[in-house]
Amino acid sequence: MIEVKNLRKTFSHKDAKNKKAEKVAVDNLSLTIGTGEIFGLLGPNGAGKTTTIRMLTMLTRPTSGEILYDGKRITDTDDARVIRQMIGVVPQNLNFDQDLTVGENLELHARLYHMGKEERETRIRELLEYVELDNVINDGVRQLSGGMKRRLLIARALIHRPKILFLDEPTVALDPQVRWRIWELVRRLAEDGATVLITTHYIEEAEELCERVAIMNKGRLIDVDTPKNFIARLGRYVVEWRDGAHREFRLFDSREDARHFIATVDAAASIRKSNLEDVFIELTGRKEGL
Ligand SMILES: Nc1ncnc2c1ncn2[C@@H]1O[C@H](COP(=O)(O)OP(=O)(O)O)[C@@H](O)[C@H]1O
Ligand SMILES: [Mg+2]
Repeated sequence: MIEVKNLRKTFSHKDAKNKKAEKVAVDNLSLTIGTGEIFGLLGPNGAGKTTTIRMLTMLTRPTSGEILYDGKRITDTDDARVIRQMIGVVPQNLNFDQDLTVGENLELHARLYHMGKEERETRIRELLEYVELDNVINDGVRQLSGGMKRRLLIARALIHRPKILFLDEPTVALDPQVRWRIWELVRRLAEDGATVLITTHYIEEAEELCERVAIMNKGRLIDVDTPKNFIARLGRYVVEWRDGAHREFRLFDSREDARHFIATVDAAASIRKSNLEDVFIELTGRKEGL
């Protein structure tokens, strides 16, 4: 179990008048993530998702607040060492050595975890099969497609058999079909017993993949629930209509209520089932950056 308590991160920067100011990237975030769960952090660009992941994976120090893994504090030096072995990170940016081959990149990473030669070779073969890249082991990383690079990043993060995997926007800028393949891989990891924390600004990805979703905006947690409950709570049906250039919508509990409402709308309106996107807009009141 991962417990996040009142987590906060501020950065100092110069404001428009060139005065020193404080930028709050993550503001009083509290969360609990269960073992074996696929948990999503959903929010637009700048919501604080990457900063949260970086604090959880000890890449950056929180300004205040606590992070505990199975009751162990990340600030305790001995515990931090144990926790580092438990976690794997797929960063938002592709940070391979572009001049090395697929195999060499994994080899380099395996050495960081002090794995012996034989163990490294076996594990690298096994992982490349797992992410279906075994046929490109000797290709330069530069030659890989975007989807292949993402799969290699996942393989790399798994080298030391972590029980918890963090994926920061793993499908950004990928084609829908390629995205599906990554989703399949994430599902398989969870089936094999891993805890997965994934950030995304694709609402559809959170709805498809995550058991629970935390909606974040401007550094703050808005709410946490299952996609299903979010939709049930805010209304299963949507009436949509146009008001000039704007798309207007309202959520309703039943189709009947939605129909009654349509009768009062002074424009062409339609009914459909609601999705997490409607919930997101309803909760954050904005759509910029999505
Ligand atoms: N190293 C940094 N220095 C200053 N500001 C930062 C830094 N990292 C992130 N921020 C700011 O913190 C906010 C949250 O960023 P980030 O965590 O990257 O959001 P997300 O991953 O949800 O897009 C943004 O406003 C961003 O500009
Ligand atoms: Mg980010």
